[in-house]
Amino acid sequence: TTGVVTLDPGFTNTGSTTSAITYIDGDAGILRYRGYPIEQLAKQSTFIETSYLLIYGELPTETQLANFTSRINRHTLLHEDLKRFFDGFPRDAHPMPVLSSAVSALSTFYQDSLDPFNPEHVELSTVRLLAKLPTIAAYAYKKTVGQPLLYPDNSLGLVENFLRMSFGFPAEPYDVDPKLAKALDQLFILHADHEQNCSTSTVRLVGSAHANLFVSVAAGINALFGPLHGGANEAVLQMLGSIRDDGGDIDKFVQRVKAKEPGVKLMGFGHRVYKNYDPRAAIVKQTADGILESLGANDELLDLAKQLEEVALHDDYFIQRKLYPNVDFYTGLIYKAMGFPTKMFTVLFAIGRLPGWIAQWREMIQDPATKIGRPRQVYTGYTARDYVPGDNR
Ligand code: SDX
Repeated sequence: TTGVVTLDPGFTNTGSTTSAITYIDGDAGILRYRGYPIEQLAKQSTFIETSYLLIYGELPTETQLANFTSRINRHTLLHEDLKRFFDGFPRDAHPMPVLSSAVSALSTFYQDSLDPFNPEHVELSTVRLLAKLPTIAAYAYKKTVGQPLLYPDNSLGLVENFLRMSFGFPAEPYDVDPKLAKALDQLFILHADHEQNCSTSTVRLVGSAHANLFVSVAAGINALFGPLHGGANEAVLQMLGSIRDDGGDIDKFVQRVKAKEPGVKLMGFGHRVYKNYDPRAAIVKQTADGILESLGANDELLDLAKQLEEVALHDDYFIQRKLYPNVDFYTGLIYKAMGFPTKMFTVLFAIGRLPGWIAQWREMIQDPATKIGRPRQVYTGYTARDYVPGDNR
């Protein structure tokens, strides 16, 4: 029914986090942000509007959205000393640890917005992160290609600004392709939140110690880097590339997966919660063909991905284990067609996930009842025993 969920009086929380932000039904393939179905938001909303919805709980009025956008635009620049931060990294550094280091460093430059219990500080750090993460991400990319950094252009929207700082050059004008911006905007919406996934739980856990928003999000970025989590979109491209390099023999690869060869998984398949299909993957797949065609990309890896998906969806090994494509299976192909190198795929996931991390951190700080708290364990080590001096061991 419409309205807000009310917990039965007899409800006892068995250690789960309570949250009012995102709802997932893994069996039915349902994903809703603040009650709105992901399918509607992906088609009708924008990333900045969805970010507002996740953080403040309601879709913004036009005035609220305009005010939110202008507040963000005022903070897209990085402190000049933070820009020099990028000079210190090796050129072949992976952009994800660069991202988490720079986000952590924001807490050293913006000490006027660190108090989790000062509403003005929370607002300021929220807006600063939303504004500066795309700039930091673009700079992390420019570092890997040895190109000069571009200052943000606040006449552009958040996504357009990021694309221009990533692919533009100081020596010539760069016009953002509106199709590219729209496609990336939709992908960011799809990644914006996903209840208590690994990286979001990390942000909440670190924040539960009353750590500030910048360092809590930096911890989330590090968790997202893991190949079983956000790093999967990068791993999917590596998997497809290895199949191509091995003559495109899909059946041979599937046999290796089923034989459980160490380190051989069907990346982009499976999910801890979705045991039918990931609604985001369905949306990405629907738009992948159109986006890739509009970008003029006829990627051989896309054909391989489709063949691999077709084989896996009809193979009992995967059906019995409820392994279906997740959000990461097709996104990497689109990012590649947009011109991003594989190393940037998880960085793009982080930009998309940022509003969710912020919303979940704020919810936890504002309502300690939603705190993850201190996890307990089942002890399986030695029982008590006495110390034995060195020469008697
Ligand atoms: C994300 O939590 C979130 O919401 C995450 C996320 C988000 O938005 O934040 O949705 C983003 O992280 C998506 C997932 C991206 N990761 C991958 O695509 C990596 C490949 N997938 C897996 O590693 C795995 O599927 C997990 C970790 C995602 C989920 O694992 P589960 O559901 O806990 O399943 P499991 O590890 O307990 O495995 C169950 C069985 C095992 O076989 P058996 O021991 O029963 O014989 O399924 C097998 C596993 O070996 N299995 C796979 C597999 N995933 C599970 N076999 C081959 N390929 C796979 N991908």
